[in-house]
Amino acid sequence: MIKSVHILLVLLSFFSFISRVMLSEIKPAVLQKKWLKIAPHVLDTLLIISGIALVIKGQWLFAQYDWLIGKLVVLMLYIGFGILTMHSLGKKRWLAFTAAVACFAYIVVVAISKNPLFFI
Ligand code: HEM
Repeated sequence: MIKSVHILLVLLSFFSFISRVMLSEIKPAVLQKKWLKIAPHVLDTLLIISGIALVIKGQWLFAQYDWLIGKLVVLMLYIGFGILTMHSLGKKRWLAFTAAVACFAYIVVVAISKNPLFFI
């Protein structure tokens, strides 16, 4: 049940990121709406809370949790590249966006494979 909520929040959070990037290209004024400024933070906070709940429920800190560390380190990068995407323009913006999407993909693969070095 918590895992389903976590995955739903993962999808909503990613959809909200992509939507904000698209809106900032085609209708930036919309992003000034108060609820559109608050909603992503609410989603991301719930995502992190659901992740922490899964760590506790699965007793991951008493198991092999190297994948979790990899996931959290790259989550920081994902957040950083996400902020850079929203605050930059032109080539820099699209490079940051590509890096953010790559980080997201890494996090998903690591979550499923439980192997932070799956690419080796
Ligand atoms: C962008 C952020 C995140 C993404 C894309 C993501 C993605 C996923 C996915 C796809 C799964 C399901 C894996 C499966 O099917 O077995 C999962 C599970 C899980 N995630 Fe996340 N997650 C994110 C954030 C977090 C955070 C912040 C935490 C911890 C603080 C966390 C901890 C966990 C745990 C413990 C599981 C369950 C592992 C299990 O018991 O099988 N996740 N995550």
